[in-house]
Amino acid sequence: MQKQKILVTGGAGFIGSHLVDKLIEFENQVTVIDSLVSGNQEFIQDQITSGKCIFIKGDIRNSEIFNDISGEVDYIFHLAADPDVKTSVSKPVLSFEHNVRGTLNVLEYARVNKPKGFIFASSGGTLYGDVDKFPITEESLLQPISPYGASKAAGEIYIGAYANAYNFKAVSGRYANIFGERSMHGVSFDFYHKLKKNPKELTILGNGMQKKSYLHVSDCVNATILIGDNLNKQKKWYDYYNIGSEEWFTVKELASVIESQMGLENVKHKFTGGEKGWVGDVHKLLLSIEKIKEIGWSPKISFEEAMHRYVEYLEKI
Ligand SMILES: NC(=O)c1ccc[n+]([C@@H]2O[C@H](COP(=O)([O-])OP(=O)(O)OC[C@H]3O[C@@H](n4cnc5c(N)ncnc54)[C@H](O)[C@@H]3O)[C@@H](O)[C@H]2O)c1
Repeated sequence: MQKQKILVTGGAGFIGSHLVDKLIEFENQVTVIDSLVSGNQEFIQDQITSGKCIFIKGDIRNSEIFNDISGEVDYIFHLAADPDVKTSVSKPVLSFEHNVRGTLNVLEYARVNKPKGFIFASSGGTLYGDVDKFPITEESLLQPISPYGASKAAGEIYIGAYANAYNFKAVSGRYANIFGERSMHGVSFDFYHKLKKNPKELTILGNGMQKKSYLHVSDCVNATILIGDNLNKQKKWYDYYNIGSEEWFTVKELASVIESQMGLENVKHKFTGGEKGWVGDVHKLLLSIEKIKEIGWSPKISFEEAMHRYVEYLEKI
């Protein structure tokens, strides 16, 4: 993807800002729409200052915001969302408004403007729900157990319908747990801060046996751009790919890796108990990545290396 005009919703967020950096590296002209509800303009300020990125501060729940985009758009990367599973359980309507209503507004913009491609940040971690067969392939049933997962499933179904009805190519990347520099939420962020406060003891939600796979943000961004690039070869109007790693770790193992990266020893673990960390949490996650491997992507950064980079980043900010 080179020298294209690209709209990134949620481009000031954790994954979105890394995506913006990469797209600009390939000489694309990027427009970001972000309400900054959880993002940070600082992440993309250099790109804005250089003129390679146009920033529109606005909310995708308001369809008028799309009138502020000047000129044509070749590709749309739709990442703006409330990404928090826990919040979606306590505020399900808010999650619907951002993730479903907001997605519909982006799709309406696409319906009128017919981009070459529409790429959606979906969630392999929540779409499939609690399953007992691993790794989870893309053909598994969608059985979300949280309002957030339901909102991502609804988003995908609308995208598939719009792509077919209005003839533009679309694809979803179903992400595992993504982490790395600029991430301000998730288990690693949480553990790091708890351990900074108390390096002797760590409270772990659940029984610590929840087992999941994690992926560094740079691998996630490369995969996301690849599925976008692949749209001109994609036969169907709409398709979807799991994006994750082939390793998985228990929360206890994750805690040990982060502790060793922080130089801590003999940290006592306290467990809140139960199979799950919170309502809506899936207790196991390993995505099959065979489908995306067939089009030429596999993860490059190991979990240990990714954690090393993340801890180094957190130490500096
Ligand atoms: N981080 C993960 O592990 C993960 C896993 C699966 C899927 N995803 C998806 O990837 C995308 C990016 O997630 P992230 O982890 O970078 O989170 P993030 O919160 O850092 O990024 C989301 C961005 O969207 C913006 N935003 C939210 N609601 C908006 C609205 N209504 N209008 C305009 N902007 C809005 C936020 O300000 C933020 O910049 C999300 O769609 C999320 O659901 C993330």
